Amino acid sequence: MSVQSRTFLDPATYVVPTGEVRFPSDFVWGMATASYQIEGAVAEDGRTPSIWDTFSAIPGAVINGDTGEVAVDHYHRMPADVALLAELGATSYRFSVSWPRVRPDAGEVNPAGLAFYDRLVDELLSRGIAPWLTLYHWDLPQTLEDAGGWTNRDTAHRFVDYAISVHEALGDRVPTWTTLNEPWCSAFLGYSAGHHAPGRQEGAAGLVAAHHLLLAHGLATQELRGRGADRLGLSLNLTVPDPSDPADPVDVDAARRIDGLHNRVFLDPILRGSYPADVLEDTADLTWHGRPWTDVVRDGDLSVISTPIDVLGVNYYHGDEVSGHPRTDVTGIGADHPDRVSLSPFVGSEHVTFPSRGLPVTAMGWEIQPDGLHRLLRRLHDDYPRLPIYLTETGAAFDDRVGDDGEVHDPDRIAFLDAYLRAVHGAIEKGVDVRGFYQWSFCDNFEWAFGYLKRFGLVHVDYDTLVRTPKSSARWYADLARTGVLSP
Ligand code: NOJ
Repeated sequence: MSVQSRTFLDPATYVVPTGEVRFPSDFVWGMATASYQIEGAVAEDGRTPSIWDTFSAIPGAVINGDTGEVAVDHYHRMPADVALLAELGATSYRFSVSWPRVRPDAGEVNPAGLAFYDRLVDELLSRGIAPWLTLYHWDLPQTLEDAGGWTNRDTAHRFVDYAISVHEALGDRVPTWTTLNEPWCSAFLGYSAGHHAPGRQEGAAGLVAAHHLLLAHGLATQELRGRGADRLGLSLNLTVPDPSDPADPVDVDAARRIDGLHNRVFLDPILRGSYPADVLEDTADLTWHGRPWTDVVRDGDLSVISTPIDVLGVNYYHGDEVSGHPRTDVTGIGADHPDRVSLSPFVGSEHVTFPSRGLPVTAMGWEIQPDGLHRLLRRLHDDYPRLPIYLTETGAAFDDRVGDDGEVHDPDRIAFLDAYLRAVHGAIEKGVDVRGFYQWSFCDNFEWAFGYLKRFGLVHVDYDTLVRTPKSSARWYADLARTGVLSP
């Protein structure tokens, strides 16, 4: 069921007030993108293939055989795109740097590739937009994957080399540096489910990759800190697993497992310096090259991984109801959804199901669940060191079309953003230190395995002409960025 033709803002579905809501005057109103999803120009100025170039060329890997070859051609249209960002009131722009552009084949630094980001940063600054840089949003150089990718510990060290080259070029102008975007996806969708590049389906490889990603994060954080960076962090995609029946220990245990393998397996090493004991217990039988997977964790790794950070980026789209019993009334895309399948080697897929709560869903089949965001933020505040939090991604895909009037009317996206922002505001009122919100995404783009089918943008892109048309949500967001007020 899509919410296209009905309202979903039933106050019963979220816990925050419906009246006028005023955000702090220094709240950051951002928009986000990622290199492979928008840039195109995959073979220009010395760039070499990433794992997403290779993966998207495999028949059947991406819907419609779509690739990022052209994407939205941002590489050639960057100045106009930045002008549009400014017009739409963004006070900050979260983008990622393409590793194979900066260090082709993971080798020497490529000045021509770096020059693009140099121009981008200058363009942003000239328009008063604060750059927020992500070093890794999934486009690993293929050469590194050929050597084992994130299952090879050496990749973490190559990441540090790459991070240094970007920082040397842009460290004087970029205030915020995040190492990784959603390492859960890189690890589990990429190495266990095979739904994302590099498309490996190797069970425990997901955990091994997760550890090396965490190590890369820690090593790069130490290195950039030593070079003077003072706003460092990463973006985690976190979920809110609610047991179907909170009084049923089987459901409660299923929710605990999902929480462990989605949230705490990243949060705990980074913010507490250890892997959660229950996750280690649940995964004790999993082996990598004939040895317990935990053999990849070396002495000292966890102290590197827990190097202090300054900001925590949270990406949140939806939570899940979780049951430990076989169920057929599963959520949206359903039990076969890769998010679920990817965890099956670890949680026992036959014992964990995701029943539908009957909530409205977006075009991704994801439940619209703002109260989950509110509860997640409060949980982070209660359970972990109190770092400044930025929502580095929230947004929704809907089947947007340019109407006969030449406009793109997307009231569902406005309603979605209004609801999720109220959830954020409610958390701020409860004392959670949330400082900004980055809408995913500035424009429609390459939605990974879904190709160009799913539109998350505030700005519509016609994929034949590459013409950009701001949707009504973009105008709404621009107003919000100007006033900081959500109307009743
Ligand atoms: C997660 C990712 O960071 C982004 O690349 C993706 O497009 C959105 N969320 C929507 O799925």
